[in-house]
Amino acid sequence: MSGHISRRQVIKSLAVAGAAIALPAASYSRVLGANDRLRVGSVGTGGKGWSDLNGVAASPAVEVTALCDIDSSEPHLGRAAEKYSNAKTYTDWRKLLDNANAVDGVIVSTPDFMHAPVSLAAMQLGKHVFCQKPLTHTVFESRQMKEAAKRNKVVTQMGNQIQSHTAYRTAVALVHADKIGKVKEVHSWQAGTPSWPRNIERPAGEDPVPKTVAWNLWQGVAPRRPYKSDIYHPFNWRGWQDYGTGQLGDFGCHILDPVFKSLELTAPLQLTAEAPPLKAETWTESATVRYIFPGTQYTAGDTIHVTWYDAVGVRPPAEVTAHLPKSYSLPNAGSVLIGEKGTLVIPHVAMPKFFPNGADTEAAIEEVLSVDHYVQWADAARGEAETTSAFDYSGPLTETVLLGTVGIRFPGQTLKWNAQEMKIPNFSAAEPWLTKSYAAGWEPTWV
Ligand SMILES: NC(=O)c1ccc[n+]([C@@H]2O[C@H](COP(=O)([O-])OP(=O)(O)OC[C@H]3O[C@@H](n4cnc5c(N)ncnc54)[C@H](O)[C@@H]3O)[C@@H](O)[C@H]2O)c1
Repeated sequence: MSGHISRRQVIKSLAVAGAAIALPAASYSRVLGANDRLRVGSVGTGGKGWSDLNGVAASPAVEVTALCDIDSSEPHLGRAAEKYSNAKTYTDWRKLLDNANAVDGVIVSTPDFMHAPVSLAAMQLGKHVFCQKPLTHTVFESRQMKEAAKRNKVVTQMGNQIQSHTAYRTAVALVHADKIGKVKEVHSWQAGTPSWPRNIERPAGEDPVPKTVAWNLWQGVAPRRPYKSDIYHPFNWRGWQDYGTGQLGDFGCHILDPVFKSLELTAPLQLTAEAPPLKAETWTESATVRYIFPGTQYTAGDTIHVTWYDAVGVRPPAEVTAHLPKSYSLPNAGSVLIGEKGTLVIPHVAMPKFFPNGADTEAAIEEVLSVDHYVQWADAARGEAETTSAFDYSGPLTETVLLGTVGIRFPGQTLKWNAQEMKIPNFSAAEPWLTKSYAAGWEPTWV
């Protein structure tokens, strides 16, 4: 691929990652106290970025000083610039960071493939970062995000906001309180129908780029391709391998989050995916990924099996629902944790249901209240709180999710995972997919 650093070249850098000299970034950042306002810049102000921006700005201690979007139209930069009219506006996030003294923290709400490039650059300037899920586009980038946050001593939060909702917080508390006993197996699924394109070939031809869109900047680190209306920007990039992470990447960091958090999972030992063959450029319409993790204090054995299913209308099989009352139907998306004392269902954004062994009805549960995922980040950056999805947590969660997307490329092949070395020792042919090529001039500065 001309103009690109090859996948092999980047892989070589895995071996030397950590040896590079990092900027003395922390020296660039202001140390904020309780009486200081957090000056925030937002990159990607449309779509989810609009609610991220408003969520963070809900803190009275936040001042929005910079806004960046490659699309100047109303639902993207337009309405954000109107609402936060004192903020300086940008089309190119690199220019926003050139003026880094104007911000203490950066919200990154771009499509997945630009999360790491923007966030790494911001952290290397000592900026606190709130970054959308999945944290990154590749496994290697997730590891880099975790390392960069640690090295630069910045406050980070991934935008898996449901973690802070009463539903997921209550589920995690139930497991930690030993209500369901040690967990023997987990099944997580997303049976919904995505509205974005999957399993298609690239459409022929080219459409005129709208005057409001900076298409080259949108493509950023990705290989260049012609603009097509309603195929990539906005929202539909999810189904394309160069930009998104498919259904597992889109939902895994939400649905697997209470599983990770409650069981204190880290890196899987291995995974095996089942999926139809991939088209050249898009993600598949279905996948099952069977992970095996080391056991923890909350699991029943030396290992714990966690299975992910994404296919329209597909929920976990009968041997799983056999643990539940016959009258109960599984929701469209969520997780089932089969414990020694009973079975916990964690619907995707609804209160959990716990069915003790042999019971026909759910048990009463003690509700844990929601906290504000956005304001928590702003408060933590001012030294007043701690974030619960900091990159030392959300990095390994995203690594696991994205390892699953590597597995989808090799259906039926078990991939053993050496997390420390970032190696797949039994099947090195998959290792190049732990990273990717970057457009010339757009290579991130690695930690
Ligand atoms: N946490 C959640 O519940 C949730 C929900 C939806 C989306 N998301 C995540 O939010 C991110 C954005 O998703 P979306 O659905 O809003 O996508 P989108 O394409 O609808 O919106 C992205 C916005 O970023 C802008 N943008 C794109 N590239 C940019 C760049 N290089 N610099 C500046 N601005 C840029 C776009 O113009 C647009 O305004 C994704 O990572 C997605 O996974 C999270």
